[in-house]
Amino acid sequence: MKTCVQCHVEVQEGKRFCADCGAPQFLRCTHCNAESSLGKSFCADCGTPLGGNPKSSPTPTAPLVDQVPVSNAHANDALSGERKVITVLFADIKGSMALIENLDPEEARSLVEPALQLMIDAVLHYDGYVVQTTGDGIFAMFGAPVVHEDHAQRALYAALRMQSDIKDHSALICAKGHQPIQGRVGVHTGEAVVRPLRLGNGQVEYTPIGHSTSLGARLQTLAPVGSIAVSEAIRQLCDGACEFNDLGLATVKGVSEPIQVYEVTGLGKQRTRMQRAADQGFTQFVGRAHELATLKLAASKAQAGGGQMVSIVAEAGTGKSRLILEAMAEFRAASTVLETSSVSHGKASVGLPLIEMLHAYFSIEAHDTELQRREKITNKIHELDSQLQDIQAHLFSFLNLAGAEDPLFDMDDADRQTQTWECIKRLFVRESERFPLTLVFEDLHWIDAQTEEFLTLLSESLGTARILLIVNYRPEYVHKWRSKSYITQIHLDPLAEDAATAMLAAMLGQHGQLSDLKRLIYEKTSGTPFFMEEMVKSMFDEGTLTRDGKVILTKKLNELEIPSSVQAILAARIDRLPTHAKELLQTLAVIGKEFSLPLIVAVTGIPQAQLEKHLKELQLGEFIYEKYVAGIKGYIFKSALTQDVAYNTLLLERRKILHERIGAAIEAVYIHSIDDHVAALAYHYGRSNNTDAGMQYLTHSGRQKLMEARKNAAQVASAPAVKSDLSVASKNAKAGEMTSDFVESIWRYPVKSMAGELIPSVMVTEKGMVGDRAYAFVNEETNRAAVVRKWAENFLNYHPHFVAEPTACEAMPPLQITFPSGETLTSESTALEEKISAVFDKKLKLMASAPPGLLIEVPKGTLGGSLSEVTELPLGGGAAPGAFVDYGSLHLIASVTLEHFQQHYPQGRFDVRRFRPNLVIHSDAAPLVENTWVGRTMAIGDEVVLRITLPCPRCISVTLAQDDLPRDPGILRAVAEQNMCDLGDFGTLPCAGVYADVIQAGHVRVGDRIRFLD
Ligand SMILES: Nc1ncnc2c1ncn2[C@@H]1O[C@H](COP(=O)(O)OP(=O)(O)OP(=O)(O)O)[C@@H](O)[C@H]1O
Ligand SMILES: [Mg+2]
Repeated sequence: MKTCVQCHVEVQEGKRFCADCGAPQFLRCTHCNAESSLGKSFCADCGTPLGGNPKSSPTPTAPLVDQVPVSNAHANDALSGERKVITVLFADIKGSMALIENLDPEEARSLVEPALQLMIDAVLHYDGYVVQTTGDGIFAMFGAPVVHEDHAQRALYAALRMQSDIKDHSALICAKGHQPIQGRVGVHTGEAVVRPLRLGNGQVEYTPIGHSTSLGARLQTLAPVGSIAVSEAIRQLCDGACEFNDLGLATVKGVSEPIQVYEVTGLGKQRTRMQRAADQGFTQFVGRAHELATLKLAASKAQAGGGQMVSIVAEAGTGKSRLILEAMAEFRAASTVLETSSVSHGKASVGLPLIEMLHAYFSIEAHDTELQRREKITNKIHELDSQLQDIQAHLFSFLNLAGAEDPLFDMDDADRQTQTWECIKRLFVRESERFPLTLVFEDLHWIDAQTEEFLTLLSESLGTARILLIVNYRPEYVHKWRSKSYITQIHLDPLAEDAATAMLAAMLGQHGQLSDLKRLIYEKTSGTPFFMEEMVKSMFDEGTLTRDGKVILTKKLNELEIPSSVQAILAARIDRLPTHAKELLQTLAVIGKEFSLPLIVAVTGIPQAQLEKHLKELQLGEFIYEKYVAGIKGYIFKSALTQDVAYNTLLLERRKILHERIGAAIEAVYIHSIDDHVAALAYHYGRSNNTDAGMQYLTHSGRQKLMEARKNAAQVASAPAVKSDLSVASKNAKAGEMTSDFVESIWRYPVKSMAGELIPSVMVTEKGMVGDRAYAFVNEETNRAAVVRKWAENFLNYHPHFVAEPTACEAMPPLQITFPSGETLTSESTALEEKISAVFDKKLKLMASAPPGLLIEVPKGTLGGSLSEVTELPLGGGAAPGAFVDYGSLHLIASVTLEHFQQHYPQGRFDVRRFRPNLVIHSDAAPLVENTWVGRTMAIGDEVVLRITLPCPRCISVTLAQDDLPRDPGILRAVAEQNMCDLGDFGTLPCAGVYADVIQAGHVRVGDRIRFLD
């Protein structure tokens, strides 16, 4: 049994505070989350200072910024900080020079400093962070270090507040005979790197770095004196919440295009999203039939005198407010509806939502005088029930209308409040006896303590009132009311696929052209209506979608941009996580949409038991779900957008480190099934600093995909319909469209992975070029073929030649192989295999047909630096049995393409030997013409007909040294820079040349002309 360190009463196991005296029982490390006893200065697990006075209880009123943890491990190094979308505010005092002219410095200070303080106070009031103060101005940011989803609005509210306060201050100093002062404010929003800087005194400073910061500073200088100048990005985010005046285009130093500037003239009328949407038109309401029915049932019970409460819980943007709006449209006829909501910056405002509700009840308008307000209240109460006169004093006091003679002035605060809540409750209950009442309190996750107290009281007393109380909140809010039979909870999920499809059809139209886009939006947003709306809206804003009778997509989309409004909501949600959980989520986001537990353990290095606790937290927060694959525990991100946003918060350098760490972890965890993870390895290493490994895995992954593609292509080609199609093509072989292209050279490679020979003509059959890769050296013990990538630098320097011209129907003639030393041995001599085996220290046998199950051996280091052992691949997924060809029957490349690469990388030697084609085609067409051949039927000379199947992806083989050619990684880089080909489902890979299937056999000779038959 554990007892409290202070009062010695029993403390429940695992609880952090004593339930009797509130004393903290242990400290939790902000870095590794381990527990430490009170009184310790450092975490015993990771050495991080535990901070704070361990004897004192946590201070709930501490400024939010103080609660932002600084990761000790990264502070002050290049990896500290995060990418965040923030709003920056620059403000200064204009007229300060004239003001202080001829004044003693101390007197000048006494005039300017209060104005500066007003600016700072305005920023702090809206939870902003003052980055810097200058002599007569400040630089502040919103959205960091504490993330707020409404950072842009907060910045504008702060700007308006400081302008109004400075005006009042100016009036005061003018009255004392001084010059007036005015403020200038510039506000902009954008992405920045926010870095914590640990100062010597133990304090932490945060500085945003990025282009958006400088633009904010420039906007300030563009602001007319006494005004607030903002960018288009701010206007888009805050339209409706504030009023704007267009100041036109302005040229700004350091920005190539003129920027649109707006002046903020005041608060707008549309405070909530629903109010703004009402102005622009709602999207057609879909789904939610069940939830509406629940609300209607509750309403009818309440109207019959059995008070009801319905709480609607869902993540941001799921449709809580919209559901209420739709229900209210029906409820208004049968009840009085009073609605109010909490705002994100309203926690500190005592009872604001309740005040607004009472204003609505008494029809009090913003422009009403105090006297008018009092009269409205008195009259309404009198008309309702003269017995209620006693509540009037409480209402006056609560609504700040009591003036100097408040009879409740001397009353204890707590008593007064309790009585006030009781009075308001009586008022509403009495009103409901006259006519049913529907009370709506939205967004309880931002509710202030006073309104919450009132709600809890009301929820206890609904039983016999004709009141329907509806509340909504996001899941992070923990309600205080006790469960009752008359309280119903509705948990809203994102829209189901059919409802989401209907909503997208309402926004984008019914026609099938946009069906891919709709699917993409649905997959990304998982059916959250707000995210769907914002994605569509931002695509219209950017011009990706236009309306011309119907909606048209103006460009091809591979990825969807995350609108800043959506980014803000998700980033704020992620930021509310404790540091250890947030860091884990970021790491998971780098791993991917799904991940297995063993892999997470390997990547993070956190012991499994502890890790599972952290993962549980993320599960409870509904960031991830558990998912078993083949009996292995794993997880999946609930929403692709959350994954994207978490990923985007990481600094590029940190992402690279994580990608490399993940690559190494995949290699370690999946050492026995590495082939199943090649695509993931290519992805992670490709985004790390280890790009060599990335490139190698990329080509390996391309190879795997190609083999699949070849298999599919082979199946398609053997289908009866396709076969007859091809035979029609071949009948017309001589009649095809003649081009000026011709066969420039013919290459044959008698032994797999050894040098090729130039020949003047050759017979090709459906299996490919006769004599091509006719032999291979195979390690008999392991049944692995020697390939260029393994022994390449040596193998490529061996030159084989047939002793006689091979034919299609006879056994392959023997070979003569010239060694790098100049020595020549024939394949009939036993000395050949012995010598080669000795050179490579393996038992190698020259084979003329691939034995079943032959593997290609890919050695250590080829697939990423840290791969510990060799890996193997089956040979030639799509090639004919027995052949040593990897995937294509023939391989073609255009000389113009090689010349093009050469121009792009003049230092490199783009010798045809590096690319190992069978046919080099001379073409006058544009470089990379082969890409346009894919899918076409090509005739060569009078006999041969080919079907061009796929672009040929390239790997490190092209970079290897051979004979007089040096090793040169730049060759592959140049190919990647010039010709990344989208191979559809197989990914985008660096390609040069094409593969072809032989449809009609025959002879090919140097100089043969090329024709296309389709
Ligand atoms: N069922 C629906 N059919 C069509 N549009 C919907 C539906 N539900 C929500 N929407 C639209 O999606 C947007 C977001 O909905 P809403 O504002 O109700 O979300 P919310 O859950 O209240 O979010 P928050 O927690 O941020 O207040 C609104 O523009 C709304 O009109
Ligand atoms: Mg809402």
